[in-house]
Formats: sequence, C-alpha cells, structure tokens
Amino acid sequence: MSRTGWILTLGALIVIAGIGYWLTGHLSGGQVSTGGNGQPVVSTGTPQIGGPFTLVNQDGQTVTQESFGGKYLLIYFGFTYCPDVCPTDLAKMAAAMDALGDDAKKVQPIFITIDPERDTPEQIKLYIQQFDPRLVGLTGTPEQIAAAAKAYRAQYDKVKDPSAEGGYTMEHTPYIYFMSPDNKFLTFFVGTRATPEEMAKAMKAKMD
Ligand code: NI
Repeated sequence: MSRTGWILTLGALIVIAGIGYWLTGHLSGGQVSTGGNGQPVVSTGTPQIGGPFTLVNQDGQTVTQESFGGKYLLIYFGFTYCPDVCPTDLAKMAAAMDALGDDAKKVQPIFITIDPERDTPEQIKLYIQQFDPRLVGLTGTPEQIAAAAKAYRAQYDKVKDPSAEGGYTMEHTPYIYFMSPDNKFLTFFVGTRATPEEMAKAMKAKMD
C-alpha cells in the first residue's frame, strides 16, 4: 500500500472509531465498556471529532469556531498547492451548497490549510475565489493548524517533492466535516465518494 493509502486508511479508522465512540456515549448516556486492548473505556458522550480553534482568515483576521454567526460549518482540511484532490473536493462542497437551496444560508463552508508555510492569507484568498464566494479560507501558525487538525482527527504529512513549489507536497485526509452551530460533530463525507446531492440530503437531515 502506498504511503498515501496508509495515511488515508489510518485516518478512516480513526474517524470511524471516533464516530463509534460518540454513538456509544450518545445512545447510552455514558457507560463503561471494554476497549480493544482489554482495558475499560469510559464513554462520556462527548463528541470526539471537532473542537475549538483559533485561526486566521483570508483577510488576515483572527477567527474562532464562534465567528460564523451561528451557522452550521462545513469544514475541509487541504492545501492550495494540492494538484487534484482538494480542487475536486472544494468544487464538490460548492456544488453541495448549491444543492442545499435556501438552507445554504444556514451553512458556512470553510477551507482550512494544513500547509501554513505556503498558504498565507493572500494565497488562500486567491485560491478560494476560484470555487465559491461563500467559502472562508483559514490559515494560522503551524501550532494553530496542528491544534485544529488534531481536534478534527485530520492527518497530514509533509513529503519531499522536488518538482513542487518549495520542494515538497502534503498528504492529508480527505474528509468534509459537518458541524452544528454549537460546534458538535453531525456527520462527515469522504469528498471523493459523496455526490453533492447526497451531501445536501445528509446535511438537511441533520439541520433544524
Ligand atoms: Ni489535497
């Protein structure tokens, strides 16, 4: 399996484990069960995907998860120099926003870079304009990006690539997260698989 495949598979396992954990706690209201290593695991009902973040938007302003006017958040981690997957997934997010119709007003699509070294606010601003005027693009210090990615169980890795700008490329998990207005995990999509219509339908089912 390629390095990319390994990383993506690992990411998928973590996301699935996180959802299982969340469902267990959600349905039972908290219980003690036995984890895979035989140790007791206490489920508290706390969602394990998502969390507070502090980042910088495409206009250079500091923002947090509470900066988006009580909207649902549709979040994707990627990078502007991504040759294929990120553009496809961002185009799909834009199409899903269109498929939402009036409900799109309640959703804020967000692109978070995992490549803060190259993705300055100016670079991100130019990039997101290609996809949808509703998109917000976020960057930050490497520490801020690492903290946000960790909260969402998003994984990324810097890989040498002499042919790329700066001599490297990034590998990253391709998940699109749908979060409630109070920043609770609702569902996620694998960008390369879900259609915009499927995404819109699943989001509508989770919205008030
Ligand atoms: Ni990408």
